[in-house]
Amino acid sequence: MLTVNDLCKRYSSGVWKKSYTQAVAHVSFHIEKGKVLGIVGESGSGKSTIAQCITRLVEPSSGEIIFRGEEITRMKAGKLNKYRRNMQMIFQDPDSALDPKMTISESLEEALKLNQCHYSAEERKRKTDELIALVGLNAEHKNRYPHQLSGGQNQRVVLARALSFDPELLIADEPTASLDVSVQAQILTLLKTIQREKELTMLLISHDMEIVRRVCDEVIVMYRGEAVEKGRVESVFGNPQHVYTRLLLDCNEENVKKWIDYKKEKGKRGNKNEE
Ligand SMILES: Nc1ncnc2c1ncn2[C@@H]1O[C@H](COP(=O)(O)OP(=O)(O)O)[C@@H](O)[C@H]1O
Ligand SMILES: [Mg+2]
Repeated sequence: MLTVNDLCKRYSSGVWKKSYTQAVAHVSFHIEKGKVLGIVGESGSGKSTIAQCITRLVEPSSGEIIFRGEEITRMKAGKLNKYRRNMQMIFQDPDSALDPKMTISESLEEALKLNQCHYSAEERKRKTDELIALVGLNAEHKNRYPHQLSGGQNQRVVLARALSFDPELLIADEPTASLDVSVQAQILTLLKTIQREKELTMLLISHDMEIVRRVCDEVIVMYRGEAVEKGRVESVFGNPQHVYTRLLLDCNEENVKKWIDYKKEKGKRGNKNEE
């Protein structure tokens, strides 16, 4: 379904004196249809940049992205739009993803108007009701505005909008990071249920190993732009090979910080080959 080969992204900054950030370095992976791949790593490790390269929101510096057998890295804008519909993204903050001036049903009907233009007004209304029920909202939420709903409810609306495109690939970038812990669990269960029912292929980005363990089939562990470990969730969690994965699993932020300081110190001494 989706293959990423040797993806690199370098951001340049500075006007007078150019400096570069290697956000993603030589990352490769493959997701099969109907499977969920997790990308996990601390903040700044390059997770969102990978998602943005796949959707071509940012241009990769090098590498290949093959979606349903077609190389999309150099695809022209017109054709790319068709592909983008097939890959929908949801983000951390649902409030900024929704138009505050539109009720929930207006927002969903608008999405359907854009991407299912063959629907009559009647069909759009019916489909809107179906989507609202699918994401676990009730008819009473239909005529509310985003500020009249909770963060979790708004994230359900964002998910409904994404699903209105009938995508094959869903990319969820920290979809529950802005929500309360109890709501997080509900949204994750919903995502997993819908993913199974619709046989969606999913890329789930998170800094939280527990979320990845619950939802994903396979996982990539990112550290400073590199994929330091990848494999099936059972084997990576059961028998982590890389010291950074073990630290993330310990869930002990203090340890992670110590390790990062240690790496920095070692980098200064120019001893980069040792793990
Ligand atoms: N538009 C940008 N311009 C310059 N640097 C960026 C940009 N976006 C991200 N970066 C840098 O790239 C690195 C990876 O960022 P990101 O992919 O957002 O990480 P994550 O999602 O894992 O937190 C970070 O060092 C970040 O500062
Ligand atoms: Mg991010």
